[in-house]
Amino acid sequence: MVRKTAWKILHNLAQIKRELILLLTMALLFSAILYIFHFSFKPSMPPENMFDAVVNQMRSYYITACGHSGNGNQNTAKQTTATAAPTVTKHISLHYHVAHPLNYHFILDEPDKCSQWDPFLVLMVPVAPHQLEARNAIRSTWGNEITVKGKAVMTLFLVGLTGGSDSEKAQQQLEEESRQHRDLVQSNFVDSYFNLTIKTMVIMDWLATRCPQATYVMKIDTDMYLNLGNLMTLLLAPNTPRDNYITGVVMRDRSVIRNKNSKWYVSEELYPEPKYPTYLLITGYVFSNDLPEKIVEISKVIKAFNIEDAYVGACLKHLGIAPSSPPDPSQFRMHKGQYNRKVFLRIISTVVGSPQQIMDVWKDVKSSR
Ligand SMILES: *[C@@H]1O[C@H](CO)[C@@H](O)[C@H](O)[C@H]1NC(C)=O
Repeated sequence: MVRKTAWKILHNLAQIKRELILLLTMALLFSAILYIFHFSFKPSMPPENMFDAVVNQMRSYYITACGHSGNGNQNTAKQTTATAAPTVTKHISLHYHVAHPLNYHFILDEPDKCSQWDPFLVLMVPVAPHQLEARNAIRSTWGNEITVKGKAVMTLFLVGLTGGSDSEKAQQQLEEESRQHRDLVQSNFVDSYFNLTIKTMVIMDWLATRCPQATYVMKIDTDMYLNLGNLMTLLLAPNTPRDNYITGVVMRDRSVIRNKNSKWYVSEELYPEPKYPTYLLITGYVFSNDLPEKIVEISKVIKAFNIEDAYVGACLKHLGIAPSSPPDPSQFRMHKGQYNRKVFLRIISTVVGSPQQIMDVWKDVKSSR
């Protein structure tokens, strides 16, 4: 009796073992197939990026499953889950790292604005969705100038997703604001300080795909004063290049911050070198509009990190483009300092502060003319 039971157990064990071997073989085969597929879709991917690629694939499946098709070239306002399935293969083979704009799509867009306005200069203003007051201050000051020295100027705000408990209501308000002003572009990434690099890359993608006809762009923060007349004088000067040109507050030899408590902390894993390449300070920089396409393209091979201006610097370095010092560097002021009408009549841009301060300064400068 005892022997019989023991034999039965042994027999069962052998069966389990057979099943296990079968399972393992199938798993191996499956991985082999995946591996082959991976390389046939991405022939340029070096093997050491295999892990990243797998993580990205997983993320892209996740994004697709959530109904975001994530293709930067789609200009339809709202994507439906029904369209997600056919884009899967394309999607996997196209995106590179979290900040590459091919991972995102526009929820609010102005795809025809540039062909209608034919702007010489586009002002791109990154802003958080809730900062309505800041947008309104700009709309009533420097964002309201539509021709400067005979050249068309256009201002657009770029936001990410609305967040928090009220996010649906906030989204409705944003859509209403967009209908009213027609100057909002929204992309489907989580809008946070950490994600400013994504915001910048989405701005570059928008310029490259929606606005190739513009000649220059200034990316400028909401807390800035901008003297468009002086900027236009610089851009129209005969020796200002129209290609491969970028200027602003030039930052050289800046050390990477390794203090984990800093909001500018970057890990060695994300950016191993101790210093950043030369870059232009985040607050406001001006560039020729051939650069966005080049930056989006080169960024495929440059790992993203959260310091947006330094990341653009890294892209420029790979492109072999050196940032230019402005003819008069004091026209791009780095620090806030005291308000002084004479100075503000001479400069191009400076940090000012709150929406109210921007309107006050603007009124005072204008009143002197
Ligand atoms: C940055 O954006 C990505 C994409 O939307 C998101 O997954 C991530 O959580 C965001 N990170 C932070 C710190 O906001």
